[in-house]
Amino acid sequence: MIWCGLLCGIFGCICGGAVPVLIDGLRRLEYRGYDSVGFAVISGGRVLVVKDKGNIDEFLSKIDIDSVESEIGIGHTRWATHGAPCKENAHPHLDCTGSIAVVHNGVLENFLDLRSGLQARGHRFASNTDSEVIAHLIEEGVMSGMCLKDALAAASRKIRGSMAVAAISSAEPDRIVCFRRESPLVVGMGPGGVYCASDILAMVKYATEAYHVPEGSLATLTRVGLSFEGPGGDRIDPPSLKISLEPGAVERGGYKHFMLKEIHEQPIAVSNTLRIYREYIDRAALLLHGKRVLLTGSGTSYHACLCASYLMSSLGVDAMAVISSELQEYLKGQPLSGSAVVAVSQSGETADTLGAIRHAKRLGARVIGITNTLSSSITNISDAYLCTQGGPEIGVAATKSFLTQLVVLEMLSFRTALAAGSISKQECEEAYEEMGALPAKIGGIIQRLESVREIALKYSDRRDAFFLGRGINVATALEGALKLKEISYIHAEGYPAGESKHGPISLVEPGFLCVFVSPMDSTRQRIIGNIMEMKARGAEIFSVLTEGDSELIEVSDGYFEVPESPEYLYPVLCTVPLQALAYYVAIYKGLDPDRPRNLAKSVTVL
Ligand code: G6P
Repeated sequence: MIWCGLLCGIFGCICGGAVPVLIDGLRRLEYRGYDSVGFAVISGGRVLVVKDKGNIDEFLSKIDIDSVESEIGIGHTRWATHGAPCKENAHPHLDCTGSIAVVHNGVLENFLDLRSGLQARGHRFASNTDSEVIAHLIEEGVMSGMCLKDALAAASRKIRGSMAVAAISSAEPDRIVCFRRESPLVVGMGPGGVYCASDILAMVKYATEAYHVPEGSLATLTRVGLSFEGPGGDRIDPPSLKISLEPGAVERGGYKHFMLKEIHEQPIAVSNTLRIYREYIDRAALLLHGKRVLLTGSGTSYHACLCASYLMSSLGVDAMAVISSELQEYLKGQPLSGSAVVAVSQSGETADTLGAIRHAKRLGARVIGITNTLSSSITNISDAYLCTQGGPEIGVAATKSFLTQLVVLEMLSFRTALAAGSISKQECEEAYEEMGALPAKIGGIIQRLESVREIALKYSDRRDAFFLGRGINVATALEGALKLKEISYIHAEGYPAGESKHGPISLVEPGFLCVFVSPMDSTRQRIIGNIMEMKARGAEIFSVLTEGDSELIEVSDGYFEVPESPEYLYPVLCTVPLQALAYYVAIYKGLDPDRPRNLAKSVTVL
């Protein structure tokens, strides 16, 4: 079986005391994968590799990092896609001479051919990863007289597929060379050294200036600075990115978990997002004007798309949501000149969403990207983009990114409807005013989340749960179920409440947990009917409902009240207690909500 180094984080540095810096950088990248970890340094004129399976804490418990002295190193944290990870497959990988070490994030499409060619030429492989071929290809370049950089460039020309690579060699102990194609890679410098990483977050503590390595380009890091070569071998000067994040922004800030911290950050995240300049929204709305709108995303981002499709349709905009991994099949080859695509992604790197965008562009659609990561692949390939202002989200389960996506999509929906003339200026202004009240309303909900803790204790032993909603809150129900299943491993199904009688109800027996998203909106009377159907079969009802809805409180076994709002804003408010429910259930079950098994924050594989 072949193991591919796919969804991973890479970090490299040249600085005094490189090993602790490498470990710190990798720790910040652990959200990208934590199946195995490793680093390579140049020490005493030799390349020394330390690697193992497991997460960083497990790794550190087995090694004595103080015993390794070095000023240059590269490291890697890995997320395997097939089968169990092991030490041999952990990065870095070495060439046959043991003098060249490589870390890689991406997928090499033609590595089987490359590998058999290399084996036929006498190369010995120590792992069955795709990534190891890079070390051997570089070795061949170096053997033919090339420097490390040229050998990496030559290797990259032989390889098809996505790759962010960093390499070191004991023959050139003063440098790290990097190459990027499709996978993210940032390099930076600060007073104490130079750095490369899959995500700028990994270097905010050290770098004051950073650069997004342009597509198909090389970067060389030395003690004296950074240099770049474009795809044609010409020297290039990419624009520098301002590092505005405080290092503390990625710490847990006193909370036990990132997820809890990020739930609590939602009022400020939404308030920052509401500040997005209206001109940006208006420009994006003009791109949608008169077009059929296809909204696409994966996971939680898809749920934001589903919400927006309901809102847009209700405002007279022809819209529908399609899961990114299905968009290509849904569209087949139909021309899209009359359509626009809104692609939503927290990371801006999700391979399914990138694939959907590329396909839609080939068919002639204009694309608006909505991401939380300005320097991401999705913002780079979109015709226009809007950046949610959620700040870094580290917990694997999306929380504040969802709320901020909803807010951007709501603003976009109203401005698009205004541009189309289907709502008046006053209606649009009123909607903006209602949205302006959201941060305070979310803040009020957060102050009452402790009550969800008790409810979570009661439900933490459940094996199954339904999350049911109607209308725009079908998406809220789907999101609530996703949160519970991904971090607490309870089988949770989100369903349109009206559809639950066409199958799901057969599973209901006394004590079966049914969570209803049932605020005071146009669907409320009908959803009461669905609640009664479930109650009649002995289900235990937990409702998220509008403050003071005594009729619903009466029929529910447990409930959480949210403030009264227009229908289109209930998904924002009703999601918050459902996030907390999932969080506390995971805590009661003794699980780590920030690092659920088998999941990754940013899924860069199809
Ligand atoms: C992964 C994460 C989800 C996320 C989805 C889409 O599956 O575990 O939490 O919703 O990717 O990610 P994106 O960055 O595109 O929003």
